[in-house]
Amino acid sequence: MSNESYLESHKAKDYGAKYDHLYRPGSYERKIWCLESEIIKNKIIKNKKIKKYLDFACGTGRLISVLESLAQESIGIDVSSSMLEQARKKLTKSTLIEINVLEDDSMDELFEECDLITAFRFFLNAEPKLQTQAIKKLSQYLAQDGILIFNIHGNKYSSYYFYVLIHNLIKNAFYKLTNKRPKIFSFKKCLSITDIKKLINDSNANLYIQNIYTYGHIPRMISKFMPFSVWLAMERKLTMKWHVAGSHIIIVCVPEKSLYRK
Ligand SMILES: C[S@@+](CC[C@H](N)C(=O)[O-])C[C@H]1O[C@@H](n2cnc3c(N)ncnc32)[C@H](O)[C@@H]1O
Repeated sequence: MSNESYLESHKAKDYGAKYDHLYRPGSYERKIWCLESEIIKNKIIKNKKIKKYLDFACGTGRLISVLESLAQESIGIDVSSSMLEQARKKLTKSTLIEINVLEDDSMDELFEECDLITAFRFFLNAEPKLQTQAIKKLSQYLAQDGILIFNIHGNKYSSYYFYVLIHNLIKNAFYKLTNKRPKIFSFKKCLSITDIKKLINDSNANLYIQNIYTYGHIPRMISKFMPFSVWLAMERKLTMKWHVAGSHIIIVCVPEKSLYRK
């Protein structure tokens, strides 16, 4: 596997535009994002007052472009100028900053006391050290009543696991036969809710998991053949009833200290 760090993985000049192509109309990612944004807005944020919102690893602005209107102040941070360039086109009022807060604390004051922090499609592929550093850092940016929402877009305990298994077996066989070095992420990963709990625990972030949502219950292959409205209606029902089997997970965390005030 390539030694390229996750930090570097989205910095190529045209990466932002390529990333946005993943979310083109009709794509599975776009469908999942529809459901995901509903869960975030209607089930998690609801009527919460948000003064300061931080989107960590904001990329091309998928989250912040939808949530910025709910916050008085919104900031997106990322290490890739190519991703931020795409984000800039979608935002009306947010501030975007190119910074690696895991190594550079010069702007920490600006990010502190957030009522809402999001970090999407970051933890699954980030290396363990980066994952721990990020959880710890984001917990420091949370206000006492703040919430941190992040997702895992590859749940180990779902049908996605079999897809990853077969995908990686084929890749492995291909690389053995052709002797070509795999590129970064050519092997897919998955994480379980237990892995996430361990990550939070090991990072000493003093966070409490308030809620977990899993979605993406209908396998991607089957979703392709379903009308969007039918898919969405079924996924909404399954998201309410099933807790572990969806391919995607949203984790909602609050500072442990907020629990003692209640
Ligand atoms: C898969 S993209 C996700 C973008 C966006 N959050 C979304 O869900 O569409 C992952 C992003 O993490 C960024 N990233 C990696 N390491 C980072 C770090 N230490 N600080 C901030 N962003 C980072 C990458 O540049 C990339 O834009």
